Amino acid sequence: MVKKLEGAGLRGQVAGETSLCTVGQVEGLAYRGHKVETLAEKATFEEVAHLLLYGKLPTQSELDNYKALLKSKRDLPQTLKDVLQKIPASAHPMDVMRTGTSMLGNLEPEGDFANQLDATNRMLATMASIVVYWYKFSHEGVDIDLNNNEDSLAGHFLHILHGKTPSDLHRRVMDVSLILYAEHEFNASTFTARVCASTMSDLHSCVVAAIGSLRGPLHGGANEKAMEMIEGWKTRDEAREHILSMLANKEKIMGFGHAVYSERDPRNAVIKTYSKLLSEEYGDNSLYEVSEEVEKVMWEEKKLFANADFFHASAYFYMGIATKLFTPIFVMSRVAGWTAHCIEQRANNRIIRPSAHYTGPESSVWVDIKDRT
Ligand code: COA
Repeated sequence: MVKKLEGAGLRGQVAGETSLCTVGQVEGLAYRGHKVETLAEKATFEEVAHLLLYGKLPTQSELDNYKALLKSKRDLPQTLKDVLQKIPASAHPMDVMRTGTSMLGNLEPEGDFANQLDATNRMLATMASIVVYWYKFSHEGVDIDLNNNEDSLAGHFLHILHGKTPSDLHRRVMDVSLILYAEHEFNASTFTARVCASTMSDLHSCVVAAIGSLRGPLHGGANEKAMEMIEGWKTRDEAREHILSMLANKEKIMGFGHAVYSERDPRNAVIKTYSKLLSEEYGDNSLYEVSEEVEKVMWEEKKLFANADFFHASAYFYMGIATKLFTPIFVMSRVAGWTAHCIEQRANNRIIRPSAHYTGPESSVWVDIKDRT
């Protein structure tokens, strides 16, 4: 077995500075000093995006203006719609978001860095439109209208997805979900974005790179994989039996464990509460019960706790969201964190270029091609 290098995966190493976020077992998760639990209770996603991108919570009039600005930027250029119409239904929605963002960068390049907040707000406003436009066109053959009266990203997403005004509960849960996912320090996708930003590249490239990192099941893709795992289980007993057998086979259980937290993920309690509430409204709480049982077994057997992704799976299911759209919701939200980090990186930049521990041959002898075996 290959021995893991001490500090492999840069675990525990400080790789830069940020004023955006603290994350850890002791400090908990806080955006610019505001605990995520408080933000999830009291704020809206747009307030959080403003906090991350403009450095402060907005006043009422600043918030009203900011929401109006984002609302005005939601529609997509026809050329981008044309591209989305050509992507098959079999594509993964994360690949659609990657392509959609890249195309937007072709049509509306950031240009001078003085435009960085314009480019950011345009991406923040269009992510939901990109993925839902493609989803409805490719799956249902409908060319949807991206304009509606919703004044929040949460409401806009649910409205265009379901073609109707969402309930207050669903709108609030989606808002909370976006708040919980908005920022998380130097996680893999954010670090990817910062590395790209450190070369003085444009913001669309940074976000495209970050989407690629977030797609993997060890990162954002975990909510989708958790759903695929639990959706077939009907009872607590069935869930327990399957998890025990997966653990016996040394399989990873998606939605559990964390690279930084060691005892609990502060986002889990928040989304778990909402998942329970949604299950009661839905009228069949078996998926919630199954999820709770998985959480119990994982703690008993491995002392592993549910991370932010696990109860998001059942919460999204209860809101009628297709599993393949779970990770794109993460993108809609995290684009605020990614771009805030890129802007921070640009303001005090040095190209990120670490070194590697070399494990190859000491020195190699050149052999002419005709003599090689
Ligand atoms: N299921 C089963 N075992 C797990 C596990 C999980 N979800 N997460 C960690 N472990 C085990 C590992 O197998 C390892 O055991 P070992 O020491 O016997 O090899 C030990 O716990 C340490 O895990 P490790 O993979 O080294 O932790 P990490 O810090 O490198 O990885 C994650 C962190 C998040 C990538 C990892 O916990 C994971 O893959 N979780 C599932 C995917 C997920 O939910 N990702 C979303 C994160 S928000």
